Amino acid sequence: MTSTRSGWSVVHVDDVPGEDGRYPAPFDAELLSFGRDLGTAGATRTIGAWHETLAPGRRTSRLHAHLHEEELIYVLSGHPVVRAHHPDGREERVALRPGSFVAFPAGTGVAHTFDNPTDAPAELLVVGGRHVADRVRYPEDGDLEAWRVAQRPNRGWPTEPVAAGTPYRIDTDRLTLRPLGGEDAPALFDMAVRNRERVRPWLPWAEREPDLERQLAFVRSMRANFEADKDFAWGVLLGGRLVGVCGLHPAHAPDGAEVGYWVDHAAEGRGLASEAVAAVLRAGLGPMGRRWIEARIAPGNERSRRLAARLGLVHEATLRGRIPSVVNPDAAKDAEIWTATRAGVGPATQHMAVRMFDALGRALADPVRDETIA
Ligand SMILES: CC(C)(COP(=O)(O)OP(=O)(O)OC[C@H]1O[C@@H](n2cnc3c(N)ncnc32)[C@H](O)[C@@H]1OP(=O)(O)O)[C@@H](O)C(=O)NCCC(=O)NCCS
Repeated sequence: MTSTRSGWSVVHVDDVPGEDGRYPAPFDAELLSFGRDLGTAGATRTIGAWHETLAPGRRTSRLHAHLHEEELIYVLSGHPVVRAHHPDGREERVALRPGSFVAFPAGTGVAHTFDNPTDAPAELLVVGGRHVADRVRYPEDGDLEAWRVAQRPNRGWPTEPVAAGTPYRIDTDRLTLRPLGGEDAPALFDMAVRNRERVRPWLPWAEREPDLERQLAFVRSMRANFEADKDFAWGVLLGGRLVGVCGLHPAHAPDGAEVGYWVDHAAEGRGLASEAVAAVLRAGLGPMGRRWIEARIAPGNERSRRLAARLGLVHEATLRGRIPSVVNPDAAKDAEIWTATRAGVGPATQHMAVRMFDALGRALADPVRDETIA
């Protein structure tokens, strides 16, 4: 029985009804694991959780990969085997035991299922995201995949990347970037408070006392600009937590854009800023169609200069007094202009693992990665 307590609940697995899993007709011949939907019993909204009992000889699902939903599996009892199938056809099988924890990050294309070759049942706790635009690929079951696409034509696994568009989500090995919006105001405000002294020499907004209402108005306007294709600010998330901001600002020229970036002190010195900026350069020079992107760096900002050099940007010029002060017009700083062009980003930028998706969750083409740099 679920004990509902204003806003939270306690559920015991024995009280949650379960059923044998099976795919819809006409794919319903095979019985899968017996699952109890703990997440629905607990009324969760963005993540699901299931207790699954895997009888000998059964498997949890057909081999499948999610584009947007992450899956975490913890073995409670028994010795099931996980099977992972890579997009290039490579196969791996790993025998598990109680305490084994298996994670499938979204969007990698690594398909998976669990089977139970032993004589005893195995129990799994399965936790997974719920994402409205998820897409699922079944590498061994073309008929099931075709059936699902026929049911929901906008939800098939993207085969051909879309050539151009604005990336709403960018994944790197460690980070996810997504448009900054009103809901980020509290976290961004906290970051601004924590980092103010550190970033004040380099970021004009930090010259003023942080203010939550102003922060909210700012992120809302950034989101409106993003949706209007005018100006783009992505929140940089590490494990779902905001650790930085990276923006692309095309105001200076129709063909180009300025890139801006900053990270929380806790994220500094780990290559995370480089990862986020490389992702935005690839987005800007790739599916967003910019011919060049520049960073404007104050001469004493050694960390930012090192980042630019690491990513292959070139210091082209120094412009006098081009970084304004928001409190003192006479205190403007010089700006070193470091640029990346479509034809010549550095290898670190070109080879960074980056995956970009448009607002419909379709993979975007990545010409910068695919072009050979002389
Ligand atoms: C500029 C800024 C974003 C750079 O951040 P950063 O963490 O130094 O940059 P990177 O992500 O490139 O990380 C590089 C550092 O991580 C280390 N590192 C660790 N793992 C790494 C990895 N996998 N890849 C690359 N570097 C790695 C590098 O050795 C380097 O450390 P070092 O500089 O002490 O040698 C950050 O200092 C900042 O927010 N500054 C304030 C705002 C600002 O100036 N913005 C730019 C305005 S133009």
